Amino acid sequence: MSELLNILGSKYPIIQGPIGKLNSPDMVAAVCEAGGFGMLALGFTTDLDEIKKMIADIRQLTDKPFGANLMIAMNPANEQILEILTEAGVKTVTTSAGSPKKIYPKIHELGMKGLHVALDFSFAVKAVDGGADGLVVSGCESGGLRTMNPESSNMVLIPLVCDHVEVPVVAAGGIADSRGYRASLALGAQGVQIGTRFLSSTESPATQAWKEAILNCPDGGTTLLPLGGMGVRAIINPRLAELMNDSSIDLSKEYSMMNMGEAWHSGNFDLFPAGGGQVSASITEIKSVKNIIDEMVRQR
Ligand SMILES: Cc1cc2nc3c(=O)[nH]c(=O)nc-3n(C[C@H](O)[C@H](O)[C@H](O)COP(=O)(O)O)c2cc1C
Repeated sequence: MSELLNILGSKYPIIQGPIGKLNSPDMVAAVCEAGGFGMLALGFTTDLDEIKKMIADIRQLTDKPFGANLMIAMNPANEQILEILTEAGVKTVTTSAGSPKKIYPKIHELGMKGLHVALDFSFAVKAVDGGADGLVVSGCESGGLRTMNPESSNMVLIPLVCDHVEVPVVAAGGIADSRGYRASLALGAQGVQIGTRFLSSTESPATQAWKEAILNCPDGGTTLLPLGGMGVRAIINPRLAELMNDSSIDLSKEYSMMNMGEAWHSGNFDLFPAGGGQVSASITEIKSVKNIIDEMVRQR
């Protein structure tokens, strides 16, 4: 068994990528029951009762291990959340957006393991120095929050990081099927984290409008939307395309991260474009989580 599977405790090294505040106990359980590692996205959730309720709901549906993502710099309740997770028997978390040094002492004190999300080589090495037990290495093709700095794709980044760290590496970004899964393992990763493909699954709580934005996204149909120092990978829609064509327009003034949640949850993508990775272009149908995972791990 790989070191990663030891840490996760799942059948397959396939992690459900956290998506903002989009949570569904049904979806977490579906990923676990299909052999993957289901995850709650707790990066922005401070309501501890809501978290306890979601954990209880998951436990009604599966006895398999699941985890949670914490955003280090974004959530003042992280320490309490870790305690709640430990009490519920959760053994593994992923951490993102902040310095691992702030949170890994607590993770280890509670007897848990953590995988830190790194978007580039230098942060990957720093995260291991900061105590991370493993890495989720996320190349520029990924969906979600990015930097506006030049970034590498996973084809470059995964082997580079694997050559320099001793901890297990999970590849995140651009993976939607067995080809991406096997390619990630060939590059040296021990597993994968799947965002956009699961976001557009049957069990995903995303709105139909969001799923359709992914299904209709052509090659090159996403862009990094600048948001004051950071970027979010977003699916280009008619309004965004029009704004991008006008070089006098500063996109970071047209869209606010404050509107992201409302837009994504209501389907009003003029307010803020739908989130999705570059791999949206190769997703053409909504499938169940089980079908996605079964196809990914099928021996050829
Ligand atoms: C719309 C969207 C929102 C995301 N939100 C988060 C988040 O809150 N925290 C996080 O660690 N990663 C977040 N991610 C990254 C995913 O968990 C995952 O690593 C990434 O989507 C992998 O790339 P893929 O979409 O090509 O599979 C988000 C991704 C997307 C598409």
